[in-house]
Amino acid sequence: MRRISCGFLMPGAEVASHVYDHDGRILLAKGVKLTNAYINALIKKGISSIYIEDEISQDISISDVILEETRVQVSNCIKKTIKSVCTRLVNRDAINISEIKSSTSEIVSQLLENKRMIYDIIDIRSIDDYLFGHSVNVCVLSLMAGISLNYGRAQLEQLAVGALLHDIGKALVPPLILNKPGILTEKEFQEIKKHPQYSLELLRKNSSIDSVSRIIAYEHHEKYNGEGYPSGKSGKDILDMSQIVGMVDMYDAITSNRCYKEGMPPNEAYELLAGAGDSYFKYEIVLAFLSKVAAYPSGTVVELSTDQTAIVVSNVTNHPITPKVRILLEKDRSLSGPNSELDLTGQTKVVIKRVLKEHEVRRIIQFL
Ligand SMILES: [Fe+2]
Repeated sequence: MRRISCGFLMPGAEVASHVYDHDGRILLAKGVKLTNAYINALIKKGISSIYIEDEISQDISISDVILEETRVQVSNCIKKTIKSVCTRLVNRDAINISEIKSSTSEIVSQLLENKRMIYDIIDIRSIDDYLFGHSVNVCVLSLMAGISLNYGRAQLEQLAVGALLHDIGKALVPPLILNKPGILTEKEFQEIKKHPQYSLELLRKNSSIDSVSRIIAYEHHEKYNGEGYPSGKSGKDILDMSQIVGMVDMYDAITSNRCYKEGMPPNEAYELLAGAGDSYFKYEIVLAFLSKVAAYPSGTVVELSTDQTAIVVSNVTNHPITPKVRILLEKDRSLSGPNSELDLTGQTKVVIKRVLKEHEVRRIIQFL
């Protein structure tokens, strides 16, 4: 299987992984053959890409780091919480913390069961579901960074709650400002910048929320170099866990498709973070996170430094830029022979040169 933008989908292609609607119901089931009507429905629902099986990717399996049903359940939980906060402005005590804690605890358990897992997928979410899907993904990715930093279970639980609820204060920002597709005015930006303070106030209302989780929500837009908000804290004054959530928040935001922009490919996001040194985030934290996220997720079609064309077959933890690939075409564009897999880890002479665009992949499939 591999991920493909909905604009390039063709009738007859097989859906490789369930596609869900806003309410967590299956919109298109795994195994369904696409029709024009299905493709149009996906585009109409604001879903920009899905996983399919095709000639070059049929034997490539890609699995999420947590169970699919857990991701749907936690997404519904955070959606319910945000709606509840929106409708109870007067007392602002709408967070059902026991449900949040049992959800996050389940994610912690699943991730601890397989510490060697690498994040090898791209989360599929509709544009309207951005905030909910984003909150869950920030929670999952923050925990992977925490596990990489050898955090214990209690720390991971604090991190998980803070990460899942970090943007809860956005429920109190006027939707017209929050969802504005164009450039924000200075006044609108000042309003958006209040959301960490709102998150803190909402979390303070509930005494069963750990103070560390509250601090995470308040500090997630602070930057290591002091250029963040709301307090302009820097360096050691910012909690490491807040740094993790802030970094992952940025990573997920830049790699996601939004109504106003295409998401950045994971390899470019990887380079951006890796090159940021100690500027926005503590470098040690950046490295811990990057060791857990594949720069070239399985199913990505790439060109190697040898001018061969290949598809990524699998990734392993701690080797995010050197996946195992299968050669599709040789340098002279001839078909590669059988057993043409190459593990780039440990290779000193072969590296990935670039990721192919979908229209180039389509030409290759037609050629094969
Ligand atoms: Fe935020």
